[in-house]
Amino acid sequence: MAKKTPAGWTRKHLLGLEDLEAGEIRHLLDAAEKFLPYAKGARPARALAGKPPVPPGPLANRTVLNLFCEDSTRTRTSFTLAAERLGARVVEFQAATSSLKKNESLLDTARNIEAMGLDAIVIRHSDRGAPHAVAEAVQCSVLNAGDDAHEHPTQALLDFLAIRHKLGRLEGLTVAIVGDIRHSRVARSNLYGLAKMGSRVIFVGPPPFLEGLGDIAAPVETSTDLDAILPDCDAVMMLRVQFERHERNVPPGGVALDLEDYKRAYQLTAKRLARAKRGAIVLHPGPINRGLEITDQVADGPQSAILHQVTCGVAVRMAALSLCIGALDRERKIARPHPAQGLIQSDGAPLTPPLSHKGRGRQKRGLSREGRGRGKSSAGA
Ligand code: MLT
Repeated sequence: MAKKTPAGWTRKHLLGLEDLEAGEIRHLLDAAEKFLPYAKGARPARALAGKPPVPPGPLANRTVLNLFCEDSTRTRTSFTLAAERLGARVVEFQAATSSLKKNESLLDTARNIEAMGLDAIVIRHSDRGAPHAVAEAVQCSVLNAGDDAHEHPTQALLDFLAIRHKLGRLEGLTVAIVGDIRHSRVARSNLYGLAKMGSRVIFVGPPPFLEGLGDIAAPVETSTDLDAILPDCDAVMMLRVQFERHERNVPPGGVALDLEDYKRAYQLTAKRLARAKRGAIVLHPGPINRGLEITDQVADGPQSAILHQVTCGVAVRMAALSLCIGALDRERKIARPHPAQGLIQSDGAPLTPPLSHKGRGRQKRGLSREGRGRGKSSAGA
């Protein structure tokens, strides 16, 4: 009988939310919920005693590579802490001092480090699809920590966990995602996931930020009028203006934006937030540009879930790493050839793998099925 895999998660990679089913998202969030007590390094008593916080370390002796080829504060730190709190060893790849600078390709870099023994690669890259290409090239798990303006699945999943905590559900909500949608992988992953969970997403921003969305494989609702849509909103997610991507992605000369006009129409102030539904929450993936897309009063105010998002991030990444590596283990178990497989005995018969404990007794007594068969034919020869 085929071995049963745990219901709900069978993927060894986490590359995006476009491909995930609602049930898989729920499964991962439920797993993350269980890790939440460890997301802030709980069990101080154990830590003081020099013991690991999560006994017995479900990923003990595993190795995770943080392959970040773009800047990161939260995501890299969060993946590192998540892996370490599960007992894994983390290798922090430094792109700026690596052989990428000597023109080694990303895939060669990944394959070479994997040849030293890896269980997972966490990759952030400025090229769309880079994590998918690495996943094709290696055997271990690959988790996308953000590729260009394409996807950032663990960010969206941590947003969902924070929303579920603060609002009690993920279904039937209206979520405004406001700002530089065009360059945002966070907006895209959130749209894919929230739509699957039965919520409505409205992308809000000035026209230049709502262009270039043709790559999105889901219906997109947009508005240029934040004040008009706020009364419908249960959650408002503010985005940073990604100046560093403007020139690269929008030739020639980048996006023309008058920052004072932008603030007047889109900055989330306390007055503006008061137009949203009662109890609406404020989200931001970070890094925050205070005084541009959001005021201090809102970022640090009672409706802000921003730091809770960061805490949820560690739990989500603990869940993602353990589920993906769990699926990898099952694949390795199935794929691993038995040491005896392919070996031929002197009489030309294939060498059969050692039998189970039960079978060994039969073999000793000369009763193994294979042995019996071969014995009979050679006796007859
Ligand atoms: C990202 O990596 O996409 C961030 O979390 C959002 C940003 O950089 O503004």
